[in-house]
Amino acid sequence: MKTTNVTTPMPAAIVDGVLKKFQISDLNEATIREVVSIVNDIEEECGEKFIRMEMGVPGLKPSQVGTDAEIEALRKGVASDYPMLEGIKPLKKEASRFVKAFIDLDVSPEGCIPTVGSMQGSYANFLVAGQLDEKKDTILFIDPGFPVQKQQLAVLGYNYESFDVYEYRGKALRAKLESYFSQGHISSVIYSNPNNPSWVCFNEEELQIIGELATQYDVIVFEDLAYFAMDFRKDLSQPFEAPYQASVGKYTDNYVLMISSSKAFSYAGQRTGMACISDKLYHRFYPNLEKRFGVGKYGQVLVTRILYALSSGTCHSAQYALAAIFKAACDGDYNFLADLEEYKERGHLMKALFLKYGFELIYDKDMDEPLADGFYFTIRYPGMTGGQLLGELMYYGISAITLGKTGSHQEGLRACVSQTSKERFTELETRLRAFQEHHS
Ligand SMILES: Cc1ncc(COP(=O)(O)O)c(C=O)c1O
Repeated sequence: MKTTNVTTPMPAAIVDGVLKKFQISDLNEATIREVVSIVNDIEEECGEKFIRMEMGVPGLKPSQVGTDAEIEALRKGVASDYPMLEGIKPLKKEASRFVKAFIDLDVSPEGCIPTVGSMQGSYANFLVAGQLDEKKDTILFIDPGFPVQKQQLAVLGYNYESFDVYEYRGKALRAKLESYFSQGHISSVIYSNPNNPSWVCFNEEELQIIGELATQYDVIVFEDLAYFAMDFRKDLSQPFEAPYQASVGKYTDNYVLMISSSKAFSYAGQRTGMACISDKLYHRFYPNLEKRFGVGKYGQVLVTRILYALSSGTCHSAQYALAAIFKAACDGDYNFLADLEEYKERGHLMKALFLKYGFELIYDKDMDEPLADGFYFTIRYPGMTGGQLLGELMYYGISAITLGKTGSHQEGLRACVSQTSKERFTELETRLRAFQEHHS
């Protein structure tokens, strides 16, 4: 299906020209950054703004607590000093407290390691995980997932396997996971929770299944908490009080939590995150690591070999920012989730608009419970593949990414709410109405 003989918000000749220039025959294959470039070009030629829903960038101001602490650290001159590889002491202490306060897990300060974004956290941990045991040469993705992590494995030359969790929620997850773990080739498993792109959140039963099987088959779980505490169905904002951010750490000792500062604290530009390694895993000795790196403990290899080689630590001043954010959150002085409610409201209203004009939600429930409104939601339009839908929406000045790139087997799109403020909802509605009129 293609928009023809109708006037669209973005002139068809311009959209056609730009799409032709990029030579992507199926938009299902376009990366996020390619979609960004296509949309930039169309906007420039049309002089009209898109409703941009393709890239998961924070749409809010950076945490003030963090900004102030970072400026103060810079004034004190930390920029001239190399930071310690394992992170500055106040950050390690406050990160450990934060994990206790908001997840109710005990991780020692020693195992709380700053990384250059969670991006580096996953890269460095993948690298170690792939060297633990010669037989375990594969990393498993519980998809849909964040495409760049697979790119990291392509860079490393590591194998990965994946499955779309859509059909394997609840008890069904056990047999599916076990079918991979029992083959003996899986070193580690990764998923995000809440999930990018589907916004699915694993419940306690599912986390228990993952944790129990990880222990049974000696698999490490990389729990990517990039959207920390953003399951807005629950109030996870009170430190040291239930309910907590759900975590696999309740059910296994084989875990690394990746806590990004990008979305929870709108601090993406400073590229800081934390890899919080369980005490047991941090100190675990692997003969294979010793053979390759001269030292054999997981945490020691990660810090003194891998992070040293990759970036020699994490930006010094940004570590002070994160330390201050964690401290203020734990002391009850900074409710980081209050600012993020904006995403919940936008998600709620934007989903309603798409549904009103004939779209359907794809990932819509955690078992019986509707998904939280939040940063992302997933949509399809009857009779269209994800690539076709994205191509058509370009003419209506609406951008997103296809689920195909995320390991999902569903045909549709991921929409991100962060770049669309409420002032643009009327425009979104006008465009969606036109889209439905032209496609029904
Ligand atoms: C699931 C997931 N993991 C990791 C990241 C990267 O986080 P960071 O900005 O801390 O590198 C993102 C960013 O969008 C993400 O969505």
